[in-house]
Amino acid sequence: MTRLGILISGRGSNMLALAEAVRSGHIAETEIAVVISDKPNAAGLTRANELGLQTQVVERRGRTREEHDRETVDVLRSHQVDFVCLAGYMRVLSAYFLEEFRDCILNIHPSLLPAFPGLNAQLQAIEHGVKFTGCTVHFVDETLDGGPIIAQRAIPVYEDDTEESLSARILEQEHQLYPEAVAFVVSGNYELSGRRVLLKR
Ligand code: GRF
Repeated sequence: MTRLGILISGRGSNMLALAEAVRSGHIAETEIAVVISDKPNAAGLTRANELGLQTQVVERRGRTREEHDRETVDVLRSHQVDFVCLAGYMRVLSAYFLEEFRDCILNIHPSLLPAFPGLNAQLQAIEHGVKFTGCTVHFVDETLDGGPIIAQRAIPVYEDDTEESLSARILEQEHQLYPEAVAFVVSGNYELSGRRVLLKR
C-alpha cells in the first residue's frame, strides 16, 4: 500500500478528488494516511473529517518556515507517508521539507507551466491574452511552480471568460488530472531524466 499525505489550506476540492479516486480504486493500492492543514478553519478539513480521513492542523504560529515544516514532516513521518500531495497548500516549502521528501512531493497548478507560475494564474492567463491555458501536475523542487512536469491538460480561453468562469473550467480538469497523475506516480512506471518525467521502458 502506498500512503499519501495531502496538504491543504482552504477549500480542498482537489483533496476530495484524490480521496474519491483512492476510494474507487482509480488510484490503486493506495490509502490517504493523513490530511494536514496549516489553517484551522479550512473548509477542506471539515470535508476530510466527514469522509473519516485522519486530519491534523499544523499552524505556523509565528515560527520560521523551517520550524513549521519540521512539525509538518514529523506528522507525515508518524503516518508513514510515501508521497506528499499539495492541494491548494498556500505555503512555500523549506529546503528541509524538500530534502526529506525529495522527488516525492507533487503539486497541482492552474496554468500550463512554465507559463503563469505563482498566484492568480487564471487571471494572469486572461490578462496575457493567451488562447489556451490549463492545469499542470508537477514534482515540487526549490523553484516556484517550476519542478519536473508530470501531466498537463489544456483548455481554451474564451473572449467572455472572467477569472471565475475560467477558474471553474480549469478546476473541472484539475479534478481529473490530479488523480491520473498520482496514479501514474504511485505505479512507479516513470523515470526522471533531468527535467523530464518519462515512461519507463
Ligand atoms: C487549485 O486551483 C489548485 O490548482 C491551486 O489551488 C487551488 C486549490 O483548490 N494550487 P482546492 O483547495 O483544491 O479546491
